[in-house]
Amino acid sequence: MKSALSTNKIEKHFDGVYAVNKLSIAFEQGKITSIVGPNGSGKSTLVNTLTGMHAMDGGEIVIGDGGVRISKIAPNEVPSYGMTRTFQDVRLFEQMPVLDNLLIVLTKRGVWGSLFEKHSAYHLEKAEETLRKVGLWEKRHEMAKNLSYGQRKLLEIARVLAMCHGSDGAAIEIIFFDEPFAGLFPEMVKTVISVIKELRTQGKAVILIEHNMDIIRELSDHLYVLDAGQLLAEGKPDEVLSRRDVIEAYLGE
Ligand SMILES: Nc1ncnc2c1ncn2[C@@H]1O[C@H](COP(=O)(O)OP(=O)(O)OP(=O)(O)O)[C@@H](O)[C@H]1O
Ligand SMILES: [Mg+2]
Repeated sequence: MKSALSTNKIEKHFDGVYAVNKLSIAFEQGKITSIVGPNGSGKSTLVNTLTGMHAMDGGEIVIGDGGVRISKIAPNEVPSYGMTRTFQDVRLFEQMPVLDNLLIVLTKRGVWGSLFEKHSAYHLEKAEETLRKVGLWEKRHEMAKNLSYGQRKLLEIARVLAMCHGSDGAAIEIIFFDEPFAGLFPEMVKTVISVIKELRTQGKAVILIEHNMDIIRELSDHLYVLDAGQLLAEGKPDEVLSRRDVIEAYLGE
């Protein structure tokens, strides 16, 4: 299988806390790779470092099979490397309607152009298709800030899907989901599971951070367990989750 992205001894420290400690892991195309670990084990910090939210303190990111190696990445460069993400704390254009939150991503003309130019039929069609997929089409005129917690998470996921359709942007191949299921109602969980499976079918490398082990078992092709910023275990989810040291790491929480 082809590697979409791997890390080579990547490091991130906060005042002596080794949040991510010389971690080397890989994410493959057309696979869902999950990352689990106790609270504070470095899962979000890893994704934040890979997506330019934190400066790396060491190591490098390797894109594809090794042609591109990065030791510094800014948030605005992330899409040009084929990456996008959701946040554990949802981030949206709060003062804009749901539909505009998608059109901005689809058109990539910046906030101003996207709001005041006429949208192409293609972009409107894609926005509708995406909002219907996550069950938010009926809410398209609602301000993002007025959505429920679960609806906000679905809108953020819709934005990620829209990025994959962006007509003029870089191709998105690597998608990080940081706890996309937390706080969702069962119907919404089903929707997000099917969205994630569809991205895998499309050949994307999907990286999932999640605490719910049933979801991890259902979705993961490969599983990494982090503990204190380091790799504790990796492999097939069923094997890894039955390991004694993995169970103990969780019980110790
Ligand atoms: N911005 C920051 N400043 C200082 N310390 C931080 C910062 N972000 C994370 N940390 C620390 O880094 C470590 C890893 O945190 P991180 O949020 O990556 O864990 P996590 O595995 O995502 O946990 P959770 O399951 O609770 O989301 C923790 O000790 C945390 O306190
Ligand atoms: Mg986290």
